[in-house]
Amino acid sequence: MSLNSAIPFLVLFHSCIIMVTLASDPDPVFDFCIPTTISKTTCKNSSLATVEDFVFPGIKHPGKFTETGFASIPVNVKVFPGLNTLGMSLARADFEVGGVNVPHFHPRATEVAYVLEGKIYSGFVDTKNKIFAKVIERGEVMVFPKGLVHFQMNVGDSRATILGSFDSENPGLVKIPSAVFGSEIKEELLEKAFGLSSEEIAKLRKKLTPH
Ligand SMILES: *[C@@H]1O[C@H](CO)[C@@H](O)[C@H](O)[C@H]1NC(C)=O
Repeated sequence: MSLNSAIPFLVLFHSCIIMVTLASDPDPVFDFCIPTTISKTTCKNSSLATVEDFVFPGIKHPGKFTETGFASIPVNVKVFPGLNTLGMSLARADFEVGGVNVPHFHPRATEVAYVLEGKIYSGFVDTKNKIFAKVIERGEVMVFPKGLVHFQMNVGDSRATILGSFDSENPGLVKIPSAVFGSEIKEELLEKAFGLSSEEIAKLRKKLTPH
């Protein structure tokens, strides 16, 4: 995994100084860099790379379904080292009838989701809390801009499958319900933030804390 490149520069405008920072996955400086098992920042000698370094067979079948009827297999640099330094990754997601991919965001990537099968109510919310959502079907794509909260639900009468593509080798995933209620944020804060009783908070915590 490579460090995010950050290109800070100064813009002089009248007498104001504005600091601008642009950041994204860096452009690769080699054809590829299969990380060694010792260090993710040193590459395997390229003459030792084989085609298997560039093939990931693990998304032929759906992953393990959660209690919301959703299964996802992220194919990022952690499971597919061949993506190292290449600035992209993908994920397969499957939905049971009525299955839900809970509101979540990817801190480091924009996602384009392509519907392979099924009908999916799909959307995101921008920083003004405006919602952009509709049912998309097989063969259609939707883009979820980087860092914005998005969600999906299978509204068809059969299983649905999508393929998400990301412009980062390691997009990151923050699921809103578990980030808020499944972490150890002080209960009093959550009660005030959501107007919930201590019993209601306890119930959500029990449901959303990873075990
Ligand atoms: C990479 O491997 C080749 C072939 O084994 C060898 O000739 C070369 O010196 C190696 N390069 C490095 C940087 O270790």
